[in-house]
Amino acid sequence: DSALVIAVDGPSGSGKSSTARGVARALGLRYLDTGAMYRGMTWWMIQHRVPVDDPAAVAARAGEPDIAMGTDPDAPAIRVDGTDVAQPIRTREVTNAVSLVSAVPEVRARLVDLQRRIIGEARRDGAGIVMEGRDIGSVVAPEATLKVYLTASENARAERRTKELDADPATTVALTRTELARRDRIDSTRATSPLAKADDAVEIDSTVLSLQEVVDEVLRLADKAV
Ligand code: C5P
Repeated sequence: DSALVIAVDGPSGSGKSSTARGVARALGLRYLDTGAMYRGMTWWMIQHRVPVDDPAAVAARAGEPDIAMGTDPDAPAIRVDGTDVAQPIRTREVTNAVSLVSAVPEVRARLVDLQRRIIGEARRDGAGIVMEGRDIGSVVAPEATLKVYLTASENARAERRTKELDADPATTVALTRTELARRDRIDSTRATSPLAKADDAVEIDSTVLSLQEVVDEVLRLADKAV
């Protein structure tokens, strides 16, 4: 089968979403934000008053939420138990809890299974897909046509994230930087599929590149990979 699967992994704020959407748009592929799925799971846990710092409590309920993803790069969508949660999954409350929930093996097993089904559907439909996350190249889709590992300096990442969060005046670059470093530390050191560059991933440092330059580089690599 010839369906193109492109994995885009990397730490928070490295530009994965904008890059993955830009590439999907340029190539007419589907797009899946796997971070949104972990955020949706976290939002559900908070709604149901599950203590997110208690892995056993989270594990016990990981099978309950119904998570449905839209894969249009121009209109990425997520519904949890039928509710559109595109906005609420971006709050600081969810952002600061998501690494705890995503470290729970039962959560990962459930969402990785869902992610593989979405890849399977794309293949069956003869469509390709760009997937962004932390473990796509290493765990979810080790067979991917192209694996990109996107990085940027901690400062650049904190600045980008602060701009995204600019609705909240209390959010300074310094605070964002602290929260982002904490999340990356948990994501990189968890036992189950930590954030890691796959051996066969191509690393792109976006610190001094524009979004267009990064997208163009990925398109060039995709062209070479097929
Ligand atoms: O990409 P985003 O920052 O929205 O991801 C939110 C969180 O979801 C990450 O900090 C990480 O804890 C978790 N995540 C993960 N595996 C993925 C994607 C996201 O553990 N494939």
